[in-house]
Amino acid sequence: RQFLATAALAGLASACGSSTPRASDPAAFRTELRVPPLLKPEVDKDGTRTFALTMQRGRSEILPGRPVETWGFNGPHLGPTIRAARGDKVRVTVANRLDEASTVHWHGMRLPARMDGGPHQTIAPGATWSPHWTIDQPAATSWYHPHPHGATARHVYRGLAGMFIIDDRTAPGLPAAYGVDDIPLILQDKNLAEDGSPSGDPLTGTFGILGDHMLVNGVHAPFLNVRTERVRFRVLNGSNARMYHLTFADGRTFHVVGNDAGLLPAPVPVDEVSLTPGERVEVVVTFTAGEQVLLRTRSGSDDIDEGDFDLLKIVAAPRLAASPGLPDRLAEPAPIVVPPGARVRRFRLNGHDAINGKEMDMSRIDEVVPAGATEIWEIENTVYAHNFHIHEVAFQVLDVDGEKPPAYASGHKDTVYVPPKSTVRVAVRFGRFTDPATPYMYHCHILRHEDSGMMGQFVIVEPGTENQVPRTIAGHH
Ligand code: C2O
Ligand code: CU
Ligand code: CU
Repeated sequence: RQFLATAALAGLASACGSSTPRASDPAAFRTELRVPPLLKPEVDKDGTRTFALTMQRGRSEILPGRPVETWGFNGPHLGPTIRAARGDKVRVTVANRLDEASTVHWHGMRLPARMDGGPHQTIAPGATWSPHWTIDQPAATSWYHPHPHGATARHVYRGLAGMFIIDDRTAPGLPAAYGVDDIPLILQDKNLAEDGSPSGDPLTGTFGILGDHMLVNGVHAPFLNVRTERVRFRVLNGSNARMYHLTFADGRTFHVVGNDAGLLPAPVPVDEVSLTPGERVEVVVTFTAGEQVLLRTRSGSDDIDEGDFDLLKIVAAPRLAASPGLPDRLAEPAPIVVPPGARVRRFRLNGHDAINGKEMDMSRIDEVVPAGATEIWEIENTVYAHNFHIHEVAFQVLDVDGEKPPAYASGHKDTVYVPPKSTVRVAVRFGRFTDPATPYMYHCHILRHEDSGMMGQFVIVEPGTENQVPRTIAGHH
């Protein structure tokens, strides 16, 4: 209770423009961080690994002692971590036990459009959807979440989200023992009602929900005991709208080793990383035996990053197991080279419910892309904060208002921040799964914006057939 009072005061302080992070009482962090369990697949004769997910309602305690309704996969809140390796044949059976239709999208996965889980792959209440594909992309931290058009914000806010880790040949030296020194951190913010339940309408205001209670893996004010010198955190911004500027309370240096879509060529030392909704970053942090440190986010100036909050207390054991040194080189991600004469497509974000002046229409194909193309997508934001996510692809940020992105964000990504009144150019590499009748999405990942129409659809087709593709999809209006 005392912590809540402090939080309320700190909220006031930050509203008055203080930029000093709140010194919350480390003793207030007294619930152990939950680490989502790894989901065990069934392996059949041909080697296909089948993972079973059930979307369900349940009750969980966001504030200790106050059970409230939340939604989750295979449990009351969030979902288990799926882990698969490059080359694996995977299938996921997704059973919908909610009272309403939903979908499940594999954010960051490169797969055929029919398996993507966007708004067209609806799962009716009581039904089961079973997409299957072969994992064929570099090691990365992806995730999954519902994507029903107009209801994504509500379904995610209720608690539906989980991690999907892809393994490949991993650089020796990167911590990789799940739950020990390789730990997912799903960052989400909520407004909580008196009874402790997530409250507020995620479709109001300019940005929807900007909560004042920070959750990590669904836990409010958590602590984590670490037992190794180095720990790799796979950080996901799973929030509806909030942007984080992550630092440690003592300002220590840590290393970014991966972006959304894979590892960086080499670790990049930083003392802060910024993350907008949908983005992931993999970091390696070094600890000293017996110490305690808070992971926090500071306020910025872009509306979606308002408030200084401490997120997680990390407690290092009195004796730490030795970790291998941080490798000098991590991966050889082929840079996405834009060929001369590459197609440039322009997307204009003004307001919150349209792209290029057009509201999302499930029956309209906005863009037709030839398989295997590399293109420049130029995203111009004339207003307040947005970001931009493209399904299926990996891209690299070329520039933000002509400036190169910071080194830690220069790797392969699928979601990028588009600051107020700025233009971001990305070099996009498209895959080779063609389907002229089933679109992939691109959209702002601030879910209030996505739901209200700041989303468009593209199809990938055989090169040379672009002009023969129907630009409308039957069965929608
Ligand atoms: Cu994370 Cu279209 O979604
Ligand atoms: Cu996605
Ligand atoms: Cu937006």
